[in-house]
Amino acid sequence: MKHFKAKMFNRKASNPKSKSDQILRTLALHPKHRIADIGAGGGYFALRFATAVGSEGKVYAVDINPDFLQFIRENCLISGLDNVETVNVEDVHSSLPKNGLDLIFMRNVYHHLPERIDYFRKMAAFLKPNGKVVIIEYKSGGSFSFHKIFGHHASQQTIIGEMEEAGYLLGKSFDFLPEQSFAIFDLKK
Ligand SMILES: C[S@@+](CC[C@H](N)C(=O)[O-])C[C@H]1O[C@@H](n2cnc3c(N)ncnc32)[C@H](O)[C@@H]1O
Repeated sequence: MKHFKAKMFNRKASNPKSKSDQILRTLALHPKHRIADIGAGGGYFALRFATAVGSEGKVYAVDINPDFLQFIRENCLISGLDNVETVNVEDVHSSLPKNGLDLIFMRNVYHHLPERIDYFRKMAAFLKPNGKVVIIEYKSGGSFSFHKIFGHHASQQTIIGEMEEAGYLLGKSFDFLPEQSFAIFDLKK
């Protein structure tokens, strides 16, 4: 079935258990914000961000999978959103605005990244001085689950340690998500 996986990601992201409304409220987005959704999947969050930041804001939906990016473009057309730019992973450094992002958002993607410390060191160049990185990631502890069996998780301790090494400090963390940690990082001054 066409776009099966992208649709599955969106079904999961939009399930009330994922608490997307609470996530959006916590991020307190403003019109004109510029956001990179890294590992955007089916684009559920990217499209909600695009609605929140309005026509003067912008969302960069980044993914490694061109089929997901195509799906996001199709959904933007259907929804009448023209402030989402889809970006293939190889083009990240030429497509994101230097010192231009208010937020880098990453949900259930951190464990996929190779060379994470180096990755986030490089991403700092795209953040505004007060820009933030949001990482929502499956927790390592807890029950016997798909995420544990397949290694699709990273502990919050690991994330905080790696982000500090990459040049960030933990600003806030939230514990309202049952399966995931949710942390917001600032650039070290
Ligand atoms: C579990 S899905 C999460 C999708 C979306 N963030 C969500 O919350 O619904 C992980 C996503 O990360 C993408 N991905 C994997 N490795 C990546 C990388 N190195 N850079 C960017 N995206 C990546 C996958 O293609 C997939 O879309």
